[in-house]
Amino acid sequence: MKIFNKAIIIATTVGAILSTSATAEVTEASSEKHAKAATQYRQAVFQLVRSNMGPLGGMAKGALPFDESVMQTNAVRLEQLADMMGDYLAVDTRKFDVETGAKDEIWENFSDVEKKVMALKTAAQGLQAAVEAGDESAYRGAIGKIGASCKSCHDDYKKD
Ligand code: HEC
Repeated sequence: MKIFNKAIIIATTVGAILSTSATAEVTEASSEKHAKAATQYRQAVFQLVRSNMGPLGGMAKGALPFDESVMQTNAVRLEQLADMMGDYLAVDTRKFDVETGAKDEIWENFSDVEKKVMALKTAAQGLQAAVEAGDESAYRGAIGKIGASCKSCHDDYKKD
């Protein structure tokens, strides 16, 4: 009986973990203060995304030499940031006067936004796979796919 209960607890916990990591639920900001903080955190995530993407972009353009250790580290970080992105994008700040580059459509099409987050995650994993394989001919393309995932979301959900 005890073992049975334990199995249920484990199964429920695993289920809860899986469901929270797979989808974030849109919640409305509860006050102007909350909306401002949520916007700051959202932008902070993208600043970290930018700081990890910058060197990769430089390498893809040939402005910097390919550095496998930086590529691996930054690709892992981009994957981790993608894992956080859904939660940080899920706070709907539309009702409040915040300075944001986020378009209102984010919170109307959140499942599509999550697909674009997944595309970034998949692309970041793709770069890790290319580095693990040591396939230098694949580096530029793998970085390009990450860049395309940024653009695809910005085209639809970021102002200008
Ligand atoms: C799923 C959608 C999505 C993806 C994927 C995405 N972005 Fe963004 N990005 C946004 C949105 C929305 C904003 C506007 C946030 C705000 O101002 O509240 C933004 C803002 C930014 C900003 C400005 C942050 C600030 O301080 O105002 C930078 C820089 C940025 N993104 C870089 C990137 C890069 C680089 C990638 C890819 C590696 C990327 N983003 C992927 C949606 C996305």
